[in-house]
Amino acid sequence: MPTNPQPLKPGEKILFTVAGVFVVFAVIAFIIMQFFIATSDKPIFEQKTHADFSAEGQKGSEYFRVEGCTTCHRALRNGTNMGRTADLDGVGSRRTVEWIYAFLINPVDTYGSETIDHRPGMRAAAHVALLPKEKLHAIAVFLSELKSDQGSSSAPVPPKGESPFIDSMVKTWAPKEWKEKYTDIRDKQQPAQPDTGDAK
Ligand code: HEC
Repeated sequence: MPTNPQPLKPGEKILFTVAGVFVVFAVIAFIIMQFFIATSDKPIFEQKTHADFSAEGQKGSEYFRVEGCTTCHRALRNGTNMGRTADLDGVGSRRTVEWIYAFLINPVDTYGSETIDHRPGMRAAAHVALLPKEKLHAIAVFLSELKSDQGSSSAPVPPKGESPFIDSMVKTWAPKEWKEKYTDIRDKQQPAQPDTGDAK
């Protein structure tokens, strides 16, 4: 025989109502956001990397996907962002095709510091250097064609113009000695900017 459920206390009623209102608002906000994303013709996040592929680069992009690079790397929205690994979008603005090719074949001597995975032995990326040379060259071409625009997180140069945010970060985190030792890249690049592809 069912017992009468205990009536809610006034405090409980208020609590459940408030919680319910939150859930309803969250659902409405989510629907509005999805609707906005689906119908807006402006990108929600500005795309700050771009690529124009040559025929060899196109081939390389295929090899990049089938030869297991995406288990550790990310490029063109493929692959992983996990932990220690490198996001290769924009790598073509930091490295030349020759450097990338040399790295893929002979990572230890090319890298300039200790490598973790790209080296011979029981290493998870040891197989990379053993791939056929023409595949590695195509991959190097592909990667070198992944350019980042100025101001993207993968670009070697900061955004154009004054940035109070960067100023305050430098002020907070850069030790005083650095001022004598290094030149601020923003002072260096005053006149002509290297063309990092601002054309939209
Ligand atoms: C097991 C994980 C793993 C796999 C698989 C892997 N990489 Fe890497 N990659 C790394 C790590 C870690 C580094 C940093 C160097 C190091 O410590 O080995 C790196 C560095 C690189 C760099 C240098 C980036 C830079 O600017 O310093 C390139 C280029 C690169 N990988 C390309 C590739 C390609 C192409 C493949 C597939 C054929 C591949 N990697 C497969 C983990 C991996």
